Amino acid sequence: MSNQVPLNRIFREWDPRGQATATVQQILQSAVAPRPVALVSTVNAQGEVNLSPFSFFNVFSADPPVLIFSPARRVRDGSTKHTLDNVMEVPEVVVQVVPYALVEQVSLASAEYPSGVNEFTKAGLTALPSKRVQPPRVAESPVQFECKVLEVKPLGQNGGAGNLVICEVIYAHLAEDVLDANGVPDPRALDPVARLGGDWYSRAAGALFEVPKPNRHCGMGVDALPAWLQQQPGITGNLLGRLGNLSAPPDASKILEAQERFRALHPQGSFPLRAGDPGCYVLFQQILQLAEKGALDEALALAFVPVGDAS
Ligand SMILES: Cc1cc2nc3c(=O)[nH]c(=O)nc-3n(C[C@H](O)[C@H](O)[C@H](O)COP(=O)(O)O)c2cc1C
Repeated sequence: MSNQVPLNRIFREWDPRGQATATVQQILQSAVAPRPVALVSTVNAQGEVNLSPFSFFNVFSADPPVLIFSPARRVRDGSTKHTLDNVMEVPEVVVQVVPYALVEQVSLASAEYPSGVNEFTKAGLTALPSKRVQPPRVAESPVQFECKVLEVKPLGQNGGAGNLVICEVIYAHLAEDVLDANGVPDPRALDPVARLGGDWYSRAAGALFEVPKPNRHCGMGVDALPAWLQQQPGITGNLLGRLGNLSAPPDASKILEAQERFRALHPQGSFPLRAGDPGCYVLFQQILQLAEKGALDEALALAFVPVGDAS
């Protein structure tokens, strides 16, 4: 299939076994990106507060509502992080979402302050008492999840080994100003940041776009689209995917209408069209324009205008 993503790339083979852990970490973190950032507050048995960010983090279940993050053993010496030590003593956390407005303070909170140093103070963030758990929450974060720790699952004992902290959300605080009319966080208002490899971060707001969910009744698939279109130079996988998401090929009357409209617009054209001919290129450009406008049914009808094999 012709597609703007090249299929003749040269791949470097990579086997993590026997590689330095720092290299493995670098490659994984740079490739599995962007990752959302959890700002996690914990307390130890003495009630001393800790606050640290974790991008080995995501949501894994809605019933029960479960979040997992992973404070890994330090690569350099295998030592554990205060967050993990605290969770082993007091299995409660607050997981905060990190908007762009807080990213520098959150980065500061990741510095390796000695045990007992409260990163709320160091990062200049405000602690508010939580409702159901002991660790305080971060007032500046627009989404704060109070959680019980269900389980801590160590993945190894070496430097770089993760520790899955499996957390059940038992209560949450959602700032009204980031919610849409249905009470759900709106990505434009939430403006969360995410971590990539090295020092790279990304910011959701400004880079947002929507992809409608796959057709509930199963799209017809790229393989059901006309062969000339699948092979047309300049076609992208994204456009094929969008058209293949439509339910079925257009019926004959729609195709005829589209063909007549196209012929009326191009009276000098030589019909029937043949793949590779200038007329076919013009047809393709029109399909692109319609798809870009979101007129997908019209684009599909044009795509099914009969096109013969290349002469
Ligand atoms: C945005 C960001 C994401 C991070 N993600 C992780 C992570 O997922 N796992 C981890 O072990 N360390 C991660 N770190 C580093 C920890 O935050 C850092 O080691 C911190 O000092 C741990 O603090 P603690 O010892 O007080 O728990 C991250 C740092 C930043 C800035």
